[in-house]
Amino acid sequence: MSLDNAGIEQIKADALSAINASQSLDELREVKIAHVGDRSPIARANQGLAEIEIEKRAAMGKLIGTARANINQAYDDKEKELTALRDSRALSNERVDVTLASNRNPRGALHPLTLLTNEISDLFVGMGYTVQEGPELEASWLNFDALNIAEDHPARTMQDTFFIEPLSSGLVMRTHTSPVQIRTMLENEPPIYVICPGRTYRADELDATHTPVFNQVEGLVVDKGITMAHLKGTLDHFAAKIFGPGVTTRIRPSFFPFTEPSAEVDFFYNGRWVEWGGCGMVNRKVLQAAGIDTEIYTGFAFGMGLERTLMVKYGITDMHDIVEGDVRFSRQFGSGGR
Ligand code: PHE
Repeated sequence: MSLDNAGIEQIKADALSAINASQSLDELREVKIAHVGDRSPIARANQGLAEIEIEKRAAMGKLIGTARANINQAYDDKEKELTALRDSRALSNERVDVTLASNRNPRGALHPLTLLTNEISDLFVGMGYTVQEGPELEASWLNFDALNIAEDHPARTMQDTFFIEPLSSGLVMRTHTSPVQIRTMLENEPPIYVICPGRTYRADELDATHTPVFNQVEGLVVDKGITMAHLKGTLDHFAAKIFGPGVTTRIRPSFFPFTEPSAEVDFFYNGRWVEWGGCGMVNRKVLQAAGIDTEIYTGFAFGMGLERTLMVKYGITDMHDIVEGDVRFSRQFGSGGR
């Protein structure tokens, strides 16, 4: 290699301009290999010192040493500058605005059964009823005996009822909301206008149309001069409010121990009759068991399943959707939660 002043100046100028042109630490790393490291022209010039004439060696060594020091200095300065630039960019890119609203807790939604319960409650409260609740773990006397359901009635058999051990406890998971009728009549004097929504239990397998835990809404009216016409008018109003204007009900003779006469209620929806629940005039024996004077008062009662109401109202075909509690299902019913 020819070593002269101009050659060293050229090596230095090349190195400095490459260093200055570096835009990033990555680029600078390449430049280091090419212009600063052990195999760079300036390093090789230094190694070549041994081969030049002894009298020129000192001056040339000084020139190379100075050039090398300049290159190293320029490199160090550039590295500092680019490191600072990288750090400040990272800081601004990765900045977290702690004042931004967090989206970590997605909003829940009210279950459609809750929405329906609220809707029915509002409807009846608007007509002067009160909402009454009772325990789900119920005295068997209130669930059966007081409702005139005899000891040998099929509803009592092990197949339908969840009994609580020991059997002598006299407790069951209520099989319907009708025991709330008795509780209400024991605690209040007529006139009574109540609606009793709540969870009920029967030993069914969960499938597309059954669930062992389901919801009913019970209605009870006890007043002077109450007739079946009042019952029918109430059911028609109820159906129209829940399923849409013009939807009517029909009642078919049936049997319940706690009503006399008793009927099944159907409603007419989308061109067909759909079973909705049971109803009737409160059996005198039931009124008497609750201490109500049957010479003065009569009453009606009705009870419907809320899951069934929901399925028909919204075209839900699988009970699993209702019981599984997936919030994506619930969100479809227009409640963003509270
Ligand atoms: N409790 C009855 C049932 O669960 C429904 C019903 C309520 C019938 C009130 C008549 C009066 O099947």
